[in-house]
Order: sequence, then structure tokens, then C-alpha cells
Amino acid sequence: MARKCLIIGNWKMYKTGKEAKDFFATFLPLLKKEAPSVACAVPFTAIQSAENPTVLIGAQNMHDAEEGAFTGEISAKMLKDAGAEFVILGHSERRTLFHESNEFIQRKVERAVKAGIRVVLCVGETLQEREKGLTEKVLTTQLKECLHGISSLDLIDIAYEPMWAIGTGKTATPEIAQAAHQHCRSVIGSESTRILYGGSVKLDSIRSLIAQKDIDGALVGGASLDPAGFAELVNHIIGIKS
Ligand code: PGA
Repeated sequence: MARKCLIIGNWKMYKTGKEAKDFFATFLPLLKKEAPSVACAVPFTAIQSAENPTVLIGAQNMHDAEEGAFTGEISAKMLKDAGAEFVILGHSERRTLFHESNEFIQRKVERAVKAGIRVVLCVGETLQEREKGLTEKVLTTQLKECLHGISSLDLIDIAYEPMWAIGTGKTATPEIAQAAHQHCRSVIGSESTRILYGGSVKLDSIRSLIAQKDIDGALVGGASLDPAGFAELVNHIIGIKS
């Protein structure tokens, strides 16, 4: 089954609403017509100003409760109201810096799906886990626990992001990434679910990654912040996958 290629920019805690508007004013005219689908996960405060006709806009996190006394948190309903069409959940920075567990992430996934928001669920091993030969075990646990009880994967994309590759400049080789993606696919048992690669994706590495059979796109952090650079990266993979 053909899976449609998707490139997502993860802006993390960068860009105000005005900066988001300026980004798209430069980025959109540079995008070639044949370019694959593009999305940007922007800060909550930039969701509304980032709205544009071409690039899907989403958020980078949300709370699992429908509403309640959770100071500083944001709900699925609020994200929808602001115009977010998807949300990244379980990013390794959330897991590590904010101690999010698989159980908590699973509740968020459930809530987002119930609200009709697409989910990009991130999984990935640490360097230590890889060196101990635990990569497959870690990925299996993360996927099984975060997707527990989720009956349909229709609204879900997976992002394999080895923690040792995020923001470090160390990209996984296409072979390492393909093996991990293949493993993730066998765990979720779905040929139609997209699995994106993330971790120091750059212009010089994206083509060979995307060319792999089970890599359906990329989650791009640092290299998605500059409009000209990100457009070049997206245009660079035209023709590799539909
Ligand atoms: P990076 O970030 O491309 O800057 O490594 C990827 C991510 O954290 O999603």
C-alpha cells in the first residue's frame, strides 16, 4: 500500500506569531508544486498566525484531560479551536526533560484521537540502550504501551527518533534507520501507517533516508527553522516518493 510522504518541521520553542507569518511568506513561494506534503508543529501561540493554504499546522504537545485545574496546560479541544490539525506526542524532549511516561502519553494519544486530531507519536532509544542491544525491545515497549487500547491507527503517524541523533548532528545511517522502521512496522502490524525518521535530518542526509522502503518522511527540528533551507530540503526529495 502506497504511503504518502510527509515532512514535518518541529519548531520547538522558536518563533513568535509574527515570525511564523514571516516564515511562510518566504517559504511558500519557494516550495515546488511537486513537493511532498509538508507540516509544521509550531508553538501554541503561533498556531493561528501560522495558518496558510499549503502547510498543515500542528502543536508539539497537549494534556490528556478533557479540561480541568491543570495550570499552564492545554487541551485537545483548545488546540482544535486554535486551528491545529495534528499534535506531536511523546517527543523525547518531553520524555526526558518533563518525565513523561508511556502511560501518560497513551492517555494523550487516546484523547487526541477522540478529539479528531492527528497524532505524530515519537519513539526512540538512547545511545546506552542501543549499545546494550536493547533498541528493538525499547521500541516495542514504547509502541505497545503508548498505543495500548487504540483501536484504529487511521489518525496516527509514528516518528522514529533515536535520542542520540536529536540535535546532536549525528544522523542514523539509512541502514540503521530502515532496520528500526521495519521493526516498528512489524510491532504495529500496519502497512498503511506512516513512519517518519527524525534526528539531525539535513539536506545531505534526507535523500538516502527517504529512499528506504519503510521510511515515509521526516521530522525535522533545527533544519526546519530557516524558510529557504527548509524549502530546499523539502524540494530536494521530489521524485523519490509520491
Ligand atoms: P533535530 O530535531 O532535527 O534538530 O535533531 C528533531 C526533533 O527533535 O524532532
